[in-house]
Amino acid sequence: MANAGATRYEVRGAGRAIRWFSPGINDRDHFDVTAHIIDGKALADKMRSKIAKDVADFSGDTGVTPHLAAVLVGDDPASAVYVRNKERACAKVGIQSTLHRLPAETTQAELLELIGRLNQDSSVHGILVQLPLPKQIREKTILDAVSVLKDVDAFHPENVGLIVQGRPRFLPCTPYGVQQMLIHHGVQISGSHAVVIGRSEIVGKPLANMLIQKGEAGNATVTICHSRTRDLKSITRHADILIAAIGLPRFIKADMVKPGAAVIDVGINRVEEKLVGDVDFDQVCEVAGAISPVPGGVGPMTITMLLRNTLTAATLSRKAVT
Ligand code: GUN
Repeated sequence: MANAGATRYEVRGAGRAIRWFSPGINDRDHFDVTAHIIDGKALADKMRSKIAKDVADFSGDTGVTPHLAAVLVGDDPASAVYVRNKERACAKVGIQSTLHRLPAETTQAELLELIGRLNQDSSVHGILVQLPLPKQIREKTILDAVSVLKDVDAFHPENVGLIVQGRPRFLPCTPYGVQQMLIHHGVQISGSHAVVIGRSEIVGKPLANMLIQKGEAGNATVTICHSRTRDLKSITRHADILIAAIGLPRFIKADMVKPGAAVIDVGINRVEEKLVGDVDFDQVCEVAGAISPVPGGVGPMTITMLLRNTLTAATLSRKAVT
């Protein structure tokens, strides 16, 4: 496979360096490499075993079972599936969960009243309000009302501010999961150019903020791209780490990716009854050094970090009383 005058690319994967040779930077016809898979499901399973142990230790030490209250308003089928998966995951690691299911016509005042009760309930450690909410409810008003110590989504402005300042109380579940996937796969974050496509409050903005923080899980040079970015390809092609969070099925093509890059696909799109990501996996895996699949990538990690945050919230509640 080696060619005279070849360009060498290097990606660190799963604790070892993977090396290969290519005859020249954009010559993908000769690029005989298939990316390493960043297996979010396997990592999630491993991390959940550790969380289950930590939950058992916490409960043994304190006599308290960590407790997540999930709030689901309306009957969006995808949201119902996500919440059910979160409840199941809680049960498996020994976290109690209670689902508060409200009808689609629920008023903002009624939802605020429930949040107020959950804030006051000392047996509840974490509160998750599944988004999106019905149109008559202003999401920001609801998220601002969640106690900052029970805000396991890290959506409250105080918790967002703490992240920006590099002293997080909680990290938002999807960005936290993405960062853990990069770390555990051995992807070098420090000094790399990370390109985040998407500027949502849930993924793009907080993830970009986390990756610029000082430390080995950060220290990246980050570019955020979005729907108004001009000549997107010219930017993504310079990314050592490319994170797609745009919600457009198979949008990222092979010619948008730098050879050897680590590609994380945050997208979950339903296409002809199938779940696909924002990355055209079949094409991009021939160019990238490492790539996360959909399903089995970021999704299981998002739930895992919710479990971790719920345990953190339970621990914080003990600190508040002692
Ligand atoms: N809807 C889509 N993603 C999320 C998430 O991470 N948390 C909540 N609460 N709702 C969501």
